[in-house]
Amino acid sequence: MTSPSSFVTREATVPCRVNLIGEWIDFNGGTVLPMALAPSATVQITANGTGLDCIKSTHFAMSQNFAIDAPAQDHWSDYVRGALQYARGRHWIESGQDVSVDSTIPVGAGLSSSAAIIIATLKAASIGLADLDGEALAFAAKGIENTFIGVPCGIMDQMAVALGTPGTVLALDTRDCSYSLLDLPQTWSVVVIHSGVRRALSDGRYRVRRDQCLEAAAALGVDYLCDASLLSIDALDGELVNRARHATSEATRSRDAIAALRTGDRSKFGRLMNESHDSLRDDMEVSVPEIDQLVCDAVSLGADGARITGAGFGGCIVALVAHERLETWWSALKLRHPSIERVV
Ligand code: GLA
Repeated sequence: MTSPSSFVTREATVPCRVNLIGEWIDFNGGTVLPMALAPSATVQITANGTGLDCIKSTHFAMSQNFAIDAPAQDHWSDYVRGALQYARGRHWIESGQDVSVDSTIPVGAGLSSSAAIIIATLKAASIGLADLDGEALAFAAKGIENTFIGVPCGIMDQMAVALGTPGTVLALDTRDCSYSLLDLPQTWSVVVIHSGVRRALSDGRYRVRRDQCLEAAAALGVDYLCDASLLSIDALDGELVNRARHATSEATRSRDAIAALRTGDRSKFGRLMNESHDSLRDDMEVSVPEIDQLVCDAVSLGADGARITGAGFGGCIVALVAHERLETWWSALKLRHPSIERVV
């Protein structure tokens, strides 16, 4: 094991992700289609020989000494601390580390900045000490998010950032984590736009929706809500009907989208994205009016499809646009929504 007194800096950089389709089904037995994006998080870890840990970030404009064993504090540094505790538990590092975090990933945007920071920290801490493949990193990161951070997320984000290469789509079966990597046709432009509406997953709305899905699956007697038949879900109570309708229909859309991607059928893929947005708005109830308007305008100005992406409640939309139409389409959308920012 590397001794803290060696003062070697270990560094890792990890991309963020956008989910093209297959939303809110990664814990319901669905197949999801995330794609890694160029914005990334870089974590550097250097033993400082003092026995005290310090985490700093120019991106988040902070520097903080912290107790490694402290519980989560509802702060972005929790992602680093959770990963460092995990690394310490495996004797990859000892007390007394300077950790520097730099990131170009917008926070609260639905692009998995949290998974990227956790995985970059785990990767940096394990360099030369443990040979973890992408899947092992993803499972470790999901465990940290579920237990230390307290967000009961699925496995999509961690797999996407641990395995993804910007521009390549990961078709991930979330039951067994088998996957294929698919290229985006050259004439397709995937555009990710920050609406400016920020949100946090740890505020409880994610857990409520997830629990409703699990409750609906249990009531229907299926292991995964995506397995429920459309005919059976009317027997459910209240909002559970809507959640079940979303999960089952989104699972079908996601499978159809993989077929459309394989055959290069952009307008079909776009249509499925639009239907996904409608379902997220009406059945999953995770959209907000500003984003509904943005999605609607993105499509009326010429995108093949657009939808809210990630957990929702704010953040980014993802749009699919013909490459040759991209710049005029973007100028028109920006004119109508001056405060939006294009991430890619
Ligand atoms: C968040 C979670 C994921 C997934 C999405 C919704 O990003 O971390 O596991 O559930 O929301 O698709």
